[in-house]
Amino acid sequence: MDGTERDDPVPDADDPYAPASAALNGDGFERDPVRTAARLDAADPLSAVADQFSLPDDRLYMDGNSLGPPSDAALASLDRVVEEWRELLIGGWTDAEPPWFGVGERLGAALAPLVGASESEVAASNSITVNIHTLVGTFLDELLAGNGPDRAGHAAADGTWEPEDGADVAPAVLVNELDFPSDHYAIRAQLRQRGIDPDEKLRVVESRDGRTIDPADIEAALDAHDDVGIVFMPTALYRSGQLFDVERITRAAHDAGAYAGFDAAHSVGAVPHAFGDAGVDFAVWCTYKYLNAGPGSIGALFVAERHHGLTPALAGWWGHEKATQFEMRMAYTPADSAGAWQIGTPPLLAAAPLEGSIETLRAAGLERLRAKSLALTDFLIALVDERLPAVDVGTPRSHDARGGHVAVEHPEAARLSEALKDRGVVVDFRPPDVVRVCPAAPYTAFADVLEVVDRIEAILAADAHHEYATEDGGVT
Ligand SMILES: Cc1ncc(COP(=O)(O)O)c(C=O)c1O
Repeated sequence: MDGTERDDPVPDADDPYAPASAALNGDGFERDPVRTAARLDAADPLSAVADQFSLPDDRLYMDGNSLGPPSDAALASLDRVVEEWRELLIGGWTDAEPPWFGVGERLGAALAPLVGASESEVAASNSITVNIHTLVGTFLDELLAGNGPDRAGHAAADGTWEPEDGADVAPAVLVNELDFPSDHYAIRAQLRQRGIDPDEKLRVVESRDGRTIDPADIEAALDAHDDVGIVFMPTALYRSGQLFDVERITRAAHDAGAYAGFDAAHSVGAVPHAFGDAGVDFAVWCTYKYLNAGPGSIGALFVAERHHGLTPALAGWWGHEKATQFEMRMAYTPADSAGAWQIGTPPLLAAAPLEGSIETLRAAGLERLRAKSLALTDFLIALVDERLPAVDVGTPRSHDARGGHVAVEHPEAARLSEALKDRGVVVDFRPPDVVRVCPAAPYTAFADVLEVVDRIEAILAADAHHEYATEDGGVT
């Protein structure tokens, strides 16, 4: 530092997180990151939200992108349902307040603002993988019945998906090679069940750098293949944390006469969405990550209103029209809402915490949480750049393309991840070389981020990670 010392920008009310983005955008840390972190924490309008979460004092929790921690409100809504079970027994379905019967629709309505949907377009139900099965299956059935999106101008289908002149127009599903594997397993199974060869019709967009997917490559795949009936992409990649442009991908899908579906596991609760305005056809996500509803908590789905009334591929009585569900008719009448994609009895105890956890996020404000999340990841990336030359950042630097976590890349990432856990920093490892670090906005301080980088630096400087064996298998 020379005699003309310039200080880091002073936080102001308009942008309390300015010093974090300034650090990343080339200014570095003019003085001392300890001081920058302290200033950011002092100015953080969300700092008190952390008090509403139960987190162990002896650990820095950087894994909320895998499993969020409980908030007081989540535990309270769980306790309430447990108490209702004790008091009301079977009567809870109708007499609990609110009654258990409409839990999927009620939690769907509470989730709707987080994804920019109307209340009837969202339901809490099943799990991500099951929801992919039923939704991809539903839209494949629509395509095979010739009811797909407008394909005027698409030679292969002459405006519909009905085969013409023996042409092979079995619909393909477009995905990408960096997807979470379960998504591919489910889609392949749905194709197979319709006699469609997944080796041919699961079309996979490749990554240029092994970390991200270029949206232009999705568009190019749609130009190159006339048979794509469903584009199914993540809103954010599970490993690198790249955030996708939902609007652009949806437009490209619709221009190609395909449905647009999304796996939003790695963004809902961390990044605001506008599925309705973007024209998304359907989406699925979980509630155990950024929604903090607990291990194995109920999944969620979005189906645009224009598709309500379709018969779900995996139909079940819980998706039946609610008014007549208990008339026990053999004929199935789907509910006229996203609730139709529910299947069986909802897992009340795995749904109960979601009510409180959504309330915690709602009160903090999703836009405010997103602003803080970007500042936390800016700060983290700036520190990695400055202090960890042996480490790469696999997450895009642009805010538009960054989700809620940072992929810290190191050739010995598995060992590094174990060494960090042993030193009280909870992260996870994703092969081949990524330690995912998630400074989740509701409960992470800027000082925590600095502490994580200090500990990584100390481990690498002492080669302490070499003491850890890498084992195959297990949960990482
Ligand atoms: C992006 C993504 N998709 C799908 C899944 C599978 O979710 P589930 O086990 O709830 O079906 C996960 C699980 O972590 C995920 O991260």
